[in-house]
Amino acid sequence: MQYRPFGQHGFECSEIGFGAWAIGGAWGPQGDADSLAALHRALDLGCTFIDTAAGYGNGRSERLIGQVLRERTAAGRSEQIFVATKTPPAAGAWPPAPHDRAADRYSEAYLRTNLAERLACLGVDKIDLLQLHTWTRAWNRDPAPFKILRQLQREGQIGLIGVSTPEHDQNSVIDLMRGGWVDSVQVIYNLFEQEPAAELLDVAQECGVGVIVRVAFDEGALTGKFTVLTKFAPDDFRNNYFAGDRLPRTVVRVERIRRDLADTAYSLPQAALKWVLAHPAVATVIPGIRNVAQAEANCAVSDLPAMPAALVEKLRRHNWRRAFWYAGK
Ligand SMILES: NC(=O)c1ccc[n+]([C@@H]2O[C@H](COP(=O)([O-])OP(=O)(O)OC[C@H]3O[C@@H](n4cnc5c(N)ncnc54)[C@H](OP(=O)(O)O)[C@@H]3O)[C@@H](O)[C@H]2O)c1
Repeated sequence: MQYRPFGQHGFECSEIGFGAWAIGGAWGPQGDADSLAALHRALDLGCTFIDTAAGYGNGRSERLIGQVLRERTAAGRSEQIFVATKTPPAAGAWPPAPHDRAADRYSEAYLRTNLAERLACLGVDKIDLLQLHTWTRAWNRDPAPFKILRQLQREGQIGLIGVSTPEHDQNSVIDLMRGGWVDSVQVIYNLFEQEPAAELLDVAQECGVGVIVRVAFDEGALTGKFTVLTKFAPDDFRNNYFAGDRLPRTVVRVERIRRDLADTAYSLPQAALKWVLAHPAVATVIPGIRNVAQAEANCAVSDLPAMPAALVEKLRRHNWRRAFWYAGK
């Protein structure tokens, strides 16, 4: 495993982090034994960065991570594992509507209560990185929630403060970076969603902000394993994400990428991760991992040679501007 500086924050994180959404739920059947084994295996392979959230199974993902950290401490390991979690806005529209008030969605009382829940679920007395799970540019001119989080940071309950981009308007976090409100950003950046390369990633680098890349596989599609006949379990959120004609449209585009990789040594999942890591602003890419095989396959990508510049450039043609899919058709 290779390591990179996490922005200007004085520590190195593993190039491959552990995306811990599926181990919480909403991705079809998932047994805790598989999740625990996957976490241990990734950490054994040098992964030092885990991303989770309150919303991943209402604390289930966080509790599993807390259990693994305690098991490893009890086993006498002295490794430094960095855990990032997220606080969602109080009940309401997702993403927040443009006329929502920050005081209603991220009030101080709410943030304090939610932080206490995060600490309890992870079983720690300080959160390494607390991210607001989503945002709206409507609050950029008065980012009051981050003033509250800076106060909680001064009180010692939070290490770093971050934001996860709203999928429909990722560039809304650029002003937050320039204003010094966030220490990290979590962003969708993959072979289809290349827009962050236009400005967001460069601004993050200029501002010393740690960049966490999520959804490098486009929710599994860029692993190349889906066909037009692929069916998801009834409780898998991908029934919505790939609703209607989206799956066949995606499969056609993935096959074009596969053809571009035909004379290379890369598999699709390897190329998907290496292409993301080719951008120097990226600190860690956090593929979703739900079993030992995925932990091993994804962690191994870090030690492959860097993707040649000519291939990085060739794959840019797969940029696909397709707007906002998470709300379904
Ligand atoms: N708003 C937000 O802040 C937000 C939103 C989304 C994600 N995230 C974070 O980002 C992480 C990554 O995103 P994601 O999990 O949504 O999507 P992703 O990384 O694009 O896809 C992950 C899925 O791909 C499959 N997979 C993983 N490794 C594989 C491999 N080597 N070969 C074949 N299939 C493989 C697994 O699902 P199957 O085996 O079931 O196919 C896995 O759950 C999340 O876990 C979460 O931590 C944050």
